[in-house]
Amino acid sequence: MGILRIKNLHKSYKHGNNTTHVLKGINLDIEEGSFVSILGRSGSGKTTLLNVISTLMEYEKGKVIIDGHDISKLKSRKINTIRNNYIGFVFQEFNLVKDMSVLDNVATPLILNGLSFKEARKKAIVALTQVGLEQYTKVRPPELSGGQQQRVAIARAIVNDQKIILCDEPTGALDDYTAVDILGILKELSKTKTVIMVTHDEEFAKKYSDRIIMLVDGNIVKDEILVNRDFKKTEKKKLKDSRAGFINLLMYSFLSMDIDKKKFGNTFRTFSISLTLFIVIGVINQNLDIFTDRYLKFFVQSEAADKNIILDFIYQFLEQNISALIQVILYILIGFCIVSYLFVFTINIINKKREIAVLKAFGASQEEIAILFMLRPIKFTLAIFKDTLIYTFILILIINGVFNFQSILIADYFGFFFNFLEVTYGVFISFILNNESSYIDFHIHYSHILYIFFTVIGLFMIGSLIPAYKISRSNTIRMLATE
Ligand SMILES: Nc1ncnc2c1ncn2[C@@H]1O[C@H](COP(=O)(O)OP(=O)(O)OP(=O)(O)O)[C@@H](O)[C@H]1O
Ligand SMILES: [Mg+2]
Repeated sequence: MGILRIKNLHKSYKHGNNTTHVLKGINLDIEEGSFVSILGRSGSGKTTLLNVISTLMEYEKGKVIIDGHDISKLKSRKINTIRNNYIGFVFQEFNLVKDMSVLDNVATPLILNGLSFKEARKKAIVALTQVGLEQYTKVRPPELSGGQQQRVAIARAIVNDQKIILCDEPTGALDDYTAVDILGILKELSKTKTVIMVTHDEEFAKKYSDRIIMLVDGNIVKDEILVNRDFKKTEKKKLKDSRAGFINLLMYSFLSMDIDKKKFGNTFRTFSISLTLFIVIGVINQNLDIFTDRYLKFFVQSEAADKNIILDFIYQFLEQNISALIQVILYILIGFCIVSYLFVFTINIINKKREIAVLKAFGASQEEIAILFMLRPIKFTLAIFKDTLIYTFILILIINGVFNFQSILIADYFGFFFNFLEVTYGVFISFILNNESSYIDFHIHYSHILYIFFTVIGLFMIGSLIPAYKISRSNTIRMLATE
């Protein structure tokens, strides 16, 4: 009995009223430790067969049995566990997560299997050494060549000791030299694992595999064994059902994910600047008396206004409406904040469809995906918060008259410098001790910033949780194929 058995498998696709019958009664028994190539013309159903084997695609009739587990009888949670434990994917387009290091890409299946972050990284290094990439652990996938990326993908496909490696045109995006490299690695792995490869290249198939299966129009027309191997049946794998714990997922999403500040530069800046203005205007609004007294004195002096119609108008207007005006500005800013936040996050998560699909392919449940995406904004928000703090600091300094140009005009540099120190000290006092400082007029209390911070984090979390949860329900195979 092989590690993979398929009995009378039928699969059709429905589009509207039409049905395409793609797999028409496939029977297969594949041994552990073999290299099987699936050949056939375009449209013959190779990818469909591989997708069904991967447990990611449903089918109408027949049986798929992986190491004794009959997939058709299992609930989705159990199928996730089977996929996580048994199946490694090697895709034509690699499907590595771009904003994660090579090491953490490889560690993904282990994290999802419930290993601690540290342990997962340790084992990932072992897998990377196996494919000869141990010196590239910290690099991001886009910095690697195609062949190197495919080797990372292979490391990810074997890191959890998966017994079946499914490869759909694994050399399709590579030149012939690199292809030979990758096939050599797969061949080596097939001594202990089962490699099932879909390919167009008959020559490669004959050279590397020990069994060739030819599909024509959804039927197996040829099943040829090229190399007779002694198959030793190993013990049935003990299924580790433990799921990733919350703390583990927190570590993973916090330490693995990188924020692409370059890519989101503008939105990032817009967000932190609007948040800053929100804080500063909030502070001014609270200190309205001081603000009017200090900066709007001219307009507020009614004697001056009396002599000029325009000034009089402005005076009247300010006197009656200044508080309302500031409130309006405040609300516009809040609106702006929310819109830019929605923009960044929705776009960001829609762009992560492939990543979600990869996580699913390696056994993540919908809840785990939701948690991962819910936690990611924390890092994002921390970065925005850091910028916001710096901007707020500078603005409060300016408002408090640190650029005391009068002193410069009369060449009182010491006065200018002393004023700067005083105000800086004052800002720190009111920031850190939550006290009002006598050196500055506009006080800002860190508790205000903390409230805003938590609100922003909350918004971000909900804003990523909902789309991630929704997206993770859509068809994994289609998401993996989206360009
Ligand atoms: N998601 C889908 N919805 C509807 N029809 C599909 C879908 N995927 C594949 N098909 C159809 O099923 C048939 C088999 O497709 P499949 O992708 O399995 O072929 P393939 O042998 O992998 O081809 P290729 O060598 O071009 O990759 C084709 O006729 C294709 O149009
Ligand atoms: Mg295909």
